[in-house]
Amino acid sequence: MPEAIKVLKAAGADLDFQEYDVNGDQYMRTGQPIPDAVWADLQKADAILFGAVGDPRVNDAAYLAGVLLRLRFELDLYVNLRPARLYDDRLSPLRREDRRKIDLLIVRENTEGLYVGMGGRFKKGTEEEVAIQEDLNTYLGVTRIIEYAFQAAKREVVMVDKSNAMTHAGALWQERWKAVAGKHPHVKTRHLYVDAASMQLVRDPTQFEVIVTGNLFGDILSDLTAELIGGMGIAPSGNVNPETRRGLFEPVHGTAPDIAGKAIVNPVGAILSASMMVRHLGQTEMAGAIESAVESALRAGECTRDLGGSLSTHEVGDAVAKRLRD
Ligand code: IPM
Ligand code: MG
Repeated sequence: MPEAIKVLKAAGADLDFQEYDVNGDQYMRTGQPIPDAVWADLQKADAILFGAVGDPRVNDAAYLAGVLLRLRFELDLYVNLRPARLYDDRLSPLRREDRRKIDLLIVRENTEGLYVGMGGRFKKGTEEEVAIQEDLNTYLGVTRIIEYAFQAAKREVVMVDKSNAMTHAGALWQERWKAVAGKHPHVKTRHLYVDAASMQLVRDPTQFEVIVTGNLFGDILSDLTAELIGGMGIAPSGNVNPETRRGLFEPVHGTAPDIAGKAIVNPVGAILSASMMVRHLGQTEMAGAIESAVESALRAGECTRDLGGSLSTHEVGDAVAKRLRD
């Protein structure tokens, strides 16, 4: 996060930053995932830049639900944007050169699906135990995410579901997909089951422009697409509500406790999330400048070791910031 803020400042972002401690220490001390006073401020913020959530000392679903999922749900950030663009050819795991020009966007539904936490456990702890996790899909939720995908696409939207096996939710997705697609005749449409979509993403990711899908499938596919462009260290995301204009921006990666504090973590995912944030705030040119600076640093090999470089986290932040100042 400090590297992302360093880069924003170097890019000339005219923003007031307010920093909040939302983390495992705070949670263990107070039992509150997000303190009330912090929550009140977050609700007022124009945008939220978020590090990552997860602490090996806190093995407690309430923490995750009370931090990231609460922000997504209660601020109604129903669009999760997960772009995957290959900035440097050498970062692609794909052997065929013609399949490396990756520039796609996953539009993940972010407020429904299997993430809502509905369900329960019956006869818990016995051999007769039953566990139910409910997959919530609403007319409004499905319609608005598909509609957003069409707004985001120039060429084609691919809708991904598992309507052959998950027939109830799948039928609703199919119906809303057809209805919304009908309103956008100039954009091509294609449907893929999620298993086939995973296969196609590995086989030839260049075929995709915009993929729209539910919460869980979007989570899974976006780790896959991150790996196609250099790994988890590089992938950014934005959680937005296009109507209220609220937004939370975060790297796709988690807290990586195994390498925390060693100054070797890749800050590019956080930096690119910050660029998505300024784009969301209307600073398109600044966002483009940050992306170009990242691209140039990556191509010059000025990166952390996960991408084959030797720089520290801070040095990568400096390398990107320097390009913005020059
Ligand atoms: C992500 C993460 C989260 C998710 C976890 C931390 C709940 O994997 O943002 O992709 O599943 O949405
Ligand atoms: Mg994930």
